[in-house]
Amino acid sequence: MRTKLVAANWKMNLTVTEGATLVETSLKTLHSRPDVDTVICAPYLAIPRLREILRNSYVKLGAQDVFWLESGAYTGKVSPLMLADFGVSYCIVGHSETRGRFGKPELPESTLSIFGETDETVNLKIKGLLYHAINPILCVGETLAEREAGRTDAVIAEQVRGAFAGIESAELYFAAIAYEPVWAIGTGQTCDSAEANRVCSMIRSLIRDLYDDELASELRILYGGSVKASNSRELFHQSDIDGGLVGGASLDAAEFTAIVQSA
Ligand code: 13P
Repeated sequence: MRTKLVAANWKMNLTVTEGATLVETSLKTLHSRPDVDTVICAPYLAIPRLREILRNSYVKLGAQDVFWLESGAYTGKVSPLMLADFGVSYCIVGHSETRGRFGKPELPESTLSIFGETDETVNLKIKGLLYHAINPILCVGETLAEREAGRTDAVIAEQVRGAFAGIESAELYFAAIAYEPVWAIGTGQTCDSAEANRVCSMIRSLIRDLYDDELASELRILYGGSVKASNSRELFHQSDIDGGLVGGASLDAAEFTAIVQSA
C-alpha cells in the first residue's frame, strides 16, 4: 500500500518571514496527519529557517531545483551536497517552469530558453540527488498543443524514459513522479480526475515495462495542476493517484491543510 504524498511547491513566492509564519500556522493542524507524507518545497533562502521550524515535526523539507555537480565554478547554482547538508529530503526536478514550458507565458518568448531544462539535465539532476539520498519528484506533462495533437502519452513516456535513463530500479523506490499537465498549472483548469488517473496509470505501466512490477506498485505518482481543497479528495482517491504537487493553494495554511487532510 502506497503512503500518500502531498508536496507544496511555493515556487518564487513568500519572503523567509512569510514562509516561516505560514509553516508555523500550518503545523498546528498538520501535526495530526502523520499518515500522509507531507513536504514543503521552498525557495532555497527559506530552507535554513524552515529546517529549524520543522525539526520536531514529520513534515519534510524539499527544494525546487538543483544543479547536478557537487561543487565548482557554477555561479548561482546549488548542489545536492548543499541541500543534503540542510536536511533536504525531497527535490522537484524537471518542472515545466524550469523546462521553459509555461502554461501561460508571462515572459517574452526570447527568454524562455533560459529555463531550458532538458531530459538530459533532468537525468543528471536525479542521479546527483539519489547519490545524496534526496528523493527526486520528477515532473512530467504535456502542453495544450501536445494534448490537442494527441501526443500526451508519447510526450510523457519520452520524459520518463529520459529522466530515468541509466538508473536502476532499486534506486527509485523513494522517488516520485508528478503528472502536471502544463495547461493545468496556475490556470484554475484542473485536469478531469478520470483523465488524470488514466495518465498516471499509463505512467505506472511504463515503469512496469522499464523496470518491474514491484517498483511499479511502490512508486508514488502524483497529480499537479490547480489542485485545491475543493478537488483534491476526488483526485487523490483515484486508483493511480498517490497525492499531489500543489502550487498556488499551498500558499494558504487553511487550504493546504485541507488538501493534506483530504489525502
Ligand atoms: P498550481 O497548483 O498553482 O496550478 O501549480 C501546480 C504546480 O506547478 C506544482 O508544481
